[in-house]
Amino acid sequence: MLTNKNLVTTDDLSNGEMEAIFSLADEMSGAMNDQLGLCRGKIMASLFFEPSTRTRLSFETAMHRLGGSVITAADVGATSLAKGESIADMARVIGSYVDLIVIRHPWEGAARVVADYSSVPVINAGDGGHQHPTQTLCDLYTIQREKKTIKGLKIALWGDLKYGRTVHSLIFALAKFGANILFYPIPGLEVPEHVLEKLTREYGGELERRETLDRTVKDSLFPLDAIYLTPSSPHQLAMMPDLNIQVELKTGVDALYVTRPQKERFTAAEKGQELKEKYPVVDKKMLRDKAFRQTLVMHPLPRVDELAYELDADPRSRYFQQAAQGVPVRMALISLLLGVREVTPPAEDVLPEIAYPLYQREFGPSCPNPRCVSIQETETKYLKPEFKIVNREPLTLRCTYCEHGFEPGYVASSDWHEGRIATKKYHSAASHWARKIRPEHLIVFNSAEEAEAHGFKPSRFSSVRRRRKSKKQ
Ligand code: NCD
Repeated sequence: MLTNKNLVTTDDLSNGEMEAIFSLADEMSGAMNDQLGLCRGKIMASLFFEPSTRTRLSFETAMHRLGGSVITAADVGATSLAKGESIADMARVIGSYVDLIVIRHPWEGAARVVADYSSVPVINAGDGGHQHPTQTLCDLYTIQREKKTIKGLKIALWGDLKYGRTVHSLIFALAKFGANILFYPIPGLEVPEHVLEKLTREYGGELERRETLDRTVKDSLFPLDAIYLTPSSPHQLAMMPDLNIQVELKTGVDALYVTRPQKERFTAAEKGQELKEKYPVVDKKMLRDKAFRQTLVMHPLPRVDELAYELDADPRSRYFQQAAQGVPVRMALISLLLGVREVTPPAEDVLPEIAYPLYQREFGPSCPNPRCVSIQETETKYLKPEFKIVNREPLTLRCTYCEHGFEPGYVASSDWHEGRIATKKYHSAASHWARKIRPEHLIVFNSAEEAEAHGFKPSRFSSVRRRRKSKKQ
């Protein structure tokens, strides 16, 4: 079922596949010393180009417990990446040595590139602030073991929801399983728009923003801003009764997922701000509210200052179990990807995959995300910017690698390539004319200057957005 698949984002696993991993993890955790025969003769490459304790060591422990071997590189400076080698070349070569690659890299979309260029299955162990799907497996496994289900639970996500990759993967998976999600970001570290956009467009979530929430929810329960995500019915994944939020919160929060500020990804401006003050500590006092009576306190770890040590002995705390479960969960995943174990996934609701038209051209915008793999100097020699056209009104493109979205200001049609129109004109992306261009003919530009640099002239529809640039024709 999962043999030879890659795990780059949580999109790569259906609910049934995740449940199959959990039931195999259950089986293995009951017999950790009896799995040595499973991966004998198999080799896993463990490539960690960002700091890691739990993820790397639990992956390596998992492979050892399965009887396999591990080769490891944990420092860019010690590999040929430091000599300017591309990720694709590294992936091709390492893929010819081993049976499975696990990679952590600071560039968002790096694991996608490794998966595209290596001949063996690839697991994303964290790519910058993008995703960390195996942490999500540990998180969901922890919740499911305790609460027996995920559907209909209320899970609060706390802290740095902007750069926390564990949070991004978890949000999509929770939505897939039909949980209600409460977002409590530190001011300035809110869930990125492109994540919310994908969540509502593809996972059927409905967002309710703070302004619409009742005062008691806004002010008493948490000191932070809130967004509430309810699973909606279009995909039939979650048939929650139509309760209002106050009523729901009275029944309590099922899990509180705390995260640390991901300072390593802060911009210079964000580093300059005194975030510590704004980062309230989750402690016994805060959890005294009756909404937290049955709440599992979770954290992907490492913690810094955001979670009080006094909670370690609290019966609600689950973060060390979460980390411990990394070994059986990863043993199950490795065995399934290597095809040494097979499981039949239970009957499930599968989210319909949306086949967006692709945008890929020799020229035009590159990804606006400075941490995207597709714009790094070593990678642009072979990677062309590639986007999914996820919306036409407003025109929205999503990078295939890091999934950041943007709305280009100007468009043109490539029809002129086929000689059908003599002059190359560009239009405002907001004009009605722009919407007439078929996806396969679409050319996008971020600015009028960029369009003109490519020899395009403004059309009568070029000025909808930027009136001061309007030129009468
Ligand atoms: C997380 C990570 O690396 O994204 N750690 C982990 O894998 N358990 C969370 C973090 O670093 O804050």
